[in-house]
Amino acid sequence: MQITFVKSEIPDDGTFVVGVAEDQETTGVLEQLDKKSKGAVERALKAARFTGAKGQVAEVLAPAGVDLDRLLVVGLGKPDDFGPSAAEDFGARAAARLLTSGEKAATFLVQTPKEASNVDEAEIAARIGLGATLRAYRFDQYRTTQKKTDKPTLAKVNVAAADPADVKKAWRATEAVARAVYFARDLVTEPANVLYPEEFVKRARKLEDLGVEVEALGEKEMAKLGMNAILGVGQGSERETQLLIMQWKGARDRNAQPIAFVGKGVTFDTGGISIKPAGGMDAMKYDMGGAGTVTGLMHALAGRKAKVNAIGICGLVENMPDGRAQRPGDVVKSMSGQTIEVLNTDAEGRLVLADAVWYCQNRFKPKFMVDLATLTGAIRTSLGLEIAGLFSNDDELADRLLAAAKVEGEGLWRMPMGDRFDRLIDSPIADMKNIGGAFGGSITAAQFIQRFVNKVPWAHIDIAGTAWAEEARGSHPKGATGYGIRLLNRLVAEHYER
Ligand code: BES
Ligand code: MN
Ligand code: ZN
Repeated sequence: MQITFVKSEIPDDGTFVVGVAEDQETTGVLEQLDKKSKGAVERALKAARFTGAKGQVAEVLAPAGVDLDRLLVVGLGKPDDFGPSAAEDFGARAAARLLTSGEKAATFLVQTPKEASNVDEAEIAARIGLGATLRAYRFDQYRTTQKKTDKPTLAKVNVAAADPADVKKAWRATEAVARAVYFARDLVTEPANVLYPEEFVKRARKLEDLGVEVEALGEKEMAKLGMNAILGVGQGSERETQLLIMQWKGARDRNAQPIAFVGKGVTFDTGGISIKPAGGMDAMKYDMGGAGTVTGLMHALAGRKAKVNAIGICGLVENMPDGRAQRPGDVVKSMSGQTIEVLNTDAEGRLVLADAVWYCQNRFKPKFMVDLATLTGAIRTSLGLEIAGLFSNDDELADRLLAAAKVEGEGLWRMPMGDRFDRLIDSPIADMKNIGGAFGGSITAAQFIQRFVNKVPWAHIDIAGTAWAEEARGSHPKGATGYGIRLLNRLVAEHYER
């Protein structure tokens, strides 16, 4: 989808989409249109009982007096709530409605409600473009037949702005983020027969074109480093386990202390010998969602040339049961030297992160470390499918993450941690066990990771509920969401660039 920014006026052709908040007078271009059409616009709005409530749409086909194919008037919701998020939602809704409508190009415009305070017009326009782009994502490469009417037609959206040149600057960075979200969604959507650890690494090498340094460790190198926690997970797979290391050196001082992101990249999680039930197991192709987000974030930072040094590390492994697979009860020694009793081979994400996080903090000595993982079914029970769980040893980092998530419209909620949870993972025969019992499953998983974190500020985001969406909503279609790229990109932009 191509986004351009144009002057706020009635377009010459195609579809015109106008966003109007609740109970607003029709002013500006809408009023002009109404005059040209001899009152047809007002009549159509009345006939549709249009009030401007969120999500309402009134449609006028081939309005008289102008050359438009159609006019859509879309409700923005309460005028007091109008801002960047409402604008993004408008862009997303309008794009969803028009994507396969037959229309190739459309012009989107919002009529800023008079009650809205502090509205940055350039930001509003950029967020409309972002919503449209992100919602229009498709993954069609495995379809060999598709009805013509199911194929996307909308290829171009012109977003109306008071000062188009001004928005173009803001859009450059926003577009880099949108591209990165697409890249991550592709990774997450790919089936596990196509995307296995080495293939993930191969695709991540694309980031070299953006200036990211990409390396990967194979099983031999990881064994030398003592990474037996992650290697144990991959023991039953024909595919080779990989540790992906990405470095973006965008700070003025290339040697300045970096920030770091670590992702769980289980390219398929059968559960291993503690095998999962058959129903719905296909979902476990997205168990590399954390790695997808980390790689997408590196793509975004490099794509917009962020002035920061950032490290992205992904533990890439397939969790399969076979004759060599890890058994429940096995004890492994992690890279940190701590031993783990593996009581359930399906609690593999924390084993992957144990070594990845340890490697990250010891090699790079980062300012902070954030890990992302589709770690527990329990976080879905706790917070549902639209809010991720945040766990942290540092209030400042946690607050910054929560604030960034809020602006970007990505749900995030902080969960408790502490000794009363930590002791639940003590093992009778090793330093710890990899499951914590029936209760507080997301928290005991986070406590496990924390045992591999030294003094560095750290946060863990459990995205098991948010990495994949069963329904289209807001700025994502059904499927991979790319959750977390936006909030982490904002965290970096607001606090760590220089
Ligand atoms: N990958 C799963 C968690 C998951 C579940 C992600 C649903 C996305 C959707 C993880 O590896 C897992 O199997 N966790 C177990 C842990 C348990 C064995 C302690 C779980 O949550 O059941
Ligand atoms: Mn599992
Ligand atoms: Zn898993």
